[in-house]
Amino acid sequence: MQELRIGVLGFGVVGRGVVELLLTQGELLRQRTGVVLRLVRIATRTPARDRGLPLGEVELTDDLQRVVSADDIDVVVELIGGLEPARSLLMTALQSGKHVVTANKALLALYGHELFPLAAARQRELLFEAAVAGAIPIIKVLRESLAANRIDQLYGILNGTCNYILTEMREQGSPFAEVLRDAQAKGFAEADPSFDVDGIDAAHKLAILAAISFGSYPDFQQIHIEGIRHVSDIDIQWATEMGYRIKLLGIAKQDEGRVELRVQPTMVPVGSMVASVEGVYNAVFVRGHAAGTTMYHGRGAGERPTASSVVADLIDLARSSRAGCGGRVAPFSMLPEALQQFPLRQTDDWRGEYYLRLAVADRPGVLAEVTQVLARQQISIDAIHQKGRSAVAAVPLIMVTHATSERQIRLALAEMEQLDAVQETPRFIRIEPNVV
Ligand code: HSE
Repeated sequence: MQELRIGVLGFGVVGRGVVELLLTQGELLRQRTGVVLRLVRIATRTPARDRGLPLGEVELTDDLQRVVSADDIDVVVELIGGLEPARSLLMTALQSGKHVVTANKALLALYGHELFPLAAARQRELLFEAAVAGAIPIIKVLRESLAANRIDQLYGILNGTCNYILTEMREQGSPFAEVLRDAQAKGFAEADPSFDVDGIDAAHKLAILAAISFGSYPDFQQIHIEGIRHVSDIDIQWATEMGYRIKLLGIAKQDEGRVELRVQPTMVPVGSMVASVEGVYNAVFVRGHAAGTTMYHGRGAGERPTASSVVADLIDLARSSRAGCGGRVAPFSMLPEALQQFPLRQTDDWRGEYYLRLAVADRPGVLAEVTQVLARQQISIDAIHQKGRSAVAAVPLIMVTHATSERQIRLALAEMEQLDAVQETPRFIRIEPNVV
């Protein structure tokens, strides 16, 4: 029977999951592909560590080159993450004629424009289902199942750590720092959480999804990124009171030939499906012009969920190599010659509804001063709330606007910050009232 000889780089959590699936599901994989998926070698910096798996004939090495440059490997599975040495290793692998399967979203978002052309030039596959939203098969959906659609909009919860923190903040009524500490103690957040909580990880994933949706190479630099550090427990309480949930969303929109790409805390109606995605779960919503909106939900990280997607890519490779039809699906759905840079809409020109939170002195006339600023900027108010009394401390003043441009909101907030009565930098959160 035909073989696909596999070399794995990295034997951490996901590496262990991939190795376990390959070693325990061999018969199923043979029945589904007609190919033996043979794990030949694993390269890891810590080969001596016991992972509790009977490796049999599989070779363990700490020499990463013995995977990327070896003659007895057909496909390199890269699970070490980060930019270097992953980037150089994958260039070597592709240059030496190997296919690549990777879960490395950062690498693809920043260096996809180098790696994919190299793969195409060598007529090798570079597959990446596991790079976005773990077990959710969103890459295959966008590239294949929805290929008849013009994608107008895609949004999703792309980072489980942030979704877990926001869920816990709401359920416990606790501030961000306390929930983050607790999440770190439970192993749900990294010791250095910045990639997750500052929105960078979600932006890497959004760059890849937008590239497939709109037809370009991923371009991380185009994304407006805000994380969740500034979301306060007060915002979460007010969101609940007004019928919203706050979610960190990755949003890609296309209309009138312009694209908006952002990762941001967003208020969504409490009855929407996106609001119901809780804890560590991820979800992606895609609006195609023909299909309408479809939703994909599941685990976005973890040993087996991520391994499931890595091995699915290996199965695709095995099937196409048996059928002799490699390169059937272009990495970003469109053929490389059809890819183009999409024109962006500038932040100032974004339009939407906004939640504004001010900390103001509690005395007569303050509301009038604040609303005059909004009137000067032609911003119409949908709702206004102020609760509590204090002769000494600031009290929160909450406002929700009708649709307006972000330029007007920024000008208004800058003006408000200058008022004597306004005692902290005003905060805003964008509202997406029409999500599914
Ligand atoms: N750290 C990510 C998350 C998973 O919290 O969803 C890997 O991208």
